[in-house]
Amino acid sequence: MPLDLTPVHMQFPGREIHWLENTGSTMTVAAQLGAAGCPAGTVVVAEEQTAGQGRFGRIWHSERETGLYVSFVLRLSLAEENLRVLAMTLGLAASEAIARTADVECDLRWPNDVLIGDKKCAGILVAVEQTTFVAGIGINVNQTAFPAVLAPIATSLRLATGRPQSREALLVHLIESADSFLRMLETGGKDPVLRMFTRASSYVRGKHVFVEQEGAEIEGVTDGLDESGFLIVRRPDGTRVTIMAGGVRPK
Ligand code: BTN
Repeated sequence: MPLDLTPVHMQFPGREIHWLENTGSTMTVAAQLGAAGCPAGTVVVAEEQTAGQGRFGRIWHSERETGLYVSFVLRLSLAEENLRVLAMTLGLAASEAIARTADVECDLRWPNDVLIGDKKCAGILVAVEQTTFVAGIGINVNQTAFPAVLAPIATSLRLATGRPQSREALLVHLIESADSFLRMLETGGKDPVLRMFTRASSYVRGKHVFVEQEGAEIEGVTDGLDESGFLIVRRPDGTRVTIMAGGVRPK
């Protein structure tokens, strides 16, 4: 069934919310709306994406009427180097929205994966064009199976809880949580976000990980975030490496 946006419009009267039955990527539509001057906080949600964008140029699997595929147009006074912290902020928001909707505790894998156990249930993608940020959030909600390549690493709220979940309730909670965490970032700066992320993520400290970085693989134990939100990894020889980007996976 397509999303019933009635509860969403009731909860956020006056908010610009665009619903698309089918699109390439909500990121593209949100960027176009942003460039055309849409209000801050505009939401773009699609039932299906034919070219859903993930990190590292990957495709985001976007099965029709099953997951939540949302992009927000944000106008923030945030330096571009803080894109990572913005992604972490929205990871916290997605995790809170999932807990409120499905009563499931999520883990956060630096910088922007939302996990249930060791499987990914949501991902965040952020992009910036001058002062307009586009933040995309994909949440696996009611998938009952994934393509073979994703099956070992992906889960959905339905698979995790054993029951279907309301995408409408999740969207309402997601917008509420995103608004509230973004307010925290805007008013308090990155420190409170980094503190909350550190508390909410099992990956930030004491986790044995592999990190792919610029063609090389680093192995070590995570040792917190630095003041910019980069991940510190302590290698077996005791040296500490600052991870700027790259995929982190458990050993
Ligand atoms: C990742 O973990 O690789 C990030 C995935 C982000 C997916 C969302 S779905 C809504 C928005 N539109 C896209 O094309 N991508 C993001």
